[in-house]
Amino acid sequence: MDPVNAVSDASDARAIESLLAFWSDAGADAMLRESPVDRIAEGQRAPPKPAAPARGAVAAQAPQPARAGPETTAAVADAKRLAAEAPDLAALEATIAAFDGCGLKFEGAKRAVFSRGNPEGPLMIIGEGPGADEDSQGAPFVGRAGKLLDRMLKAADLEGRVFITNTVFWRPPGNRTPTLAEQLACRPFLERAIALVKPRLLLLAGGASAKSMLGREEGILSLRGRWFDWKSEDEAMEIPAMPTLHPAFLLRQPGAKKRAWQDLLTLTERLDRPDRPKD
Ligand code: URA
Repeated sequence: MDPVNAVSDASDARAIESLLAFWSDAGADAMLRESPVDRIAEGQRAPPKPAAPARGAVAAQAPQPARAGPETTAAVADAKRLAAEAPDLAALEATIAAFDGCGLKFEGAKRAVFSRGNPEGPLMIIGEGPGADEDSQGAPFVGRAGKLLDRMLKAADLEGRVFITNTVFWRPPGNRTPTLAEQLACRPFLERAIALVKPRLLLLAGGASAKSMLGREEGILSLRGRWFDWKSEDEAMEIPAMPTLHPAFLLRQPGAKKRAWQDLLTLTERLDRPDRPKD
């Protein structure tokens, strides 16, 4: 059966299943709109857009506005007020799920994805944003990249000592990099999570997390493995933070695992032997 043409027979459930399987195998695993968009006709009218960078990509992001627009400013103000009212992580999770100020919520995400791990742990890992597996299961880093992350944490003796979350709490469609506006709208919740967990160290997984948390322009290859002081917006919190390569990048470039492993060892050293002089 030609699965593409089978769509004309909408009454045939098996044909629809087969068509969905065909698209799923081709990587189309999310429905973004109610009606189809003819990208071929669109492409004939306008020059093609550059492809979205892959999750955890090390290349520079597309330029983003340095300042937030008025809608983002209002969303951030709302988020700050709501985040401050959350007395604990459970309340914060419920507040995030009910928040409508981040556009990602309305771009096909199934649910809000907040955190997993040990809220008493000394280390907080902040990734970029949920992917398809996280969107389905409701927890961060549970797909292939997350499994690799878990193996690395176990090998570094960090298993069970880590709280994991992301810069945004809804899956960006097609796993594109979250925009600055989306990250800003989620930031007050992330800051509240940091205030509640009180980690001793932060590990920033991938360029999108490192750049937005530290406000730096350099690429992840230059930021990784170095210590920075992350400060909350009101500067009341200051925590040592290390950027590292994103596990999704390591899956595509296994040769880079050595550098991520070095970063983890440097971090573990500081965590477990805080009195040693730092570089
Ligand atoms: N990549 C991320 O940055 N975060 C996740 O939760 C999963 C994959």
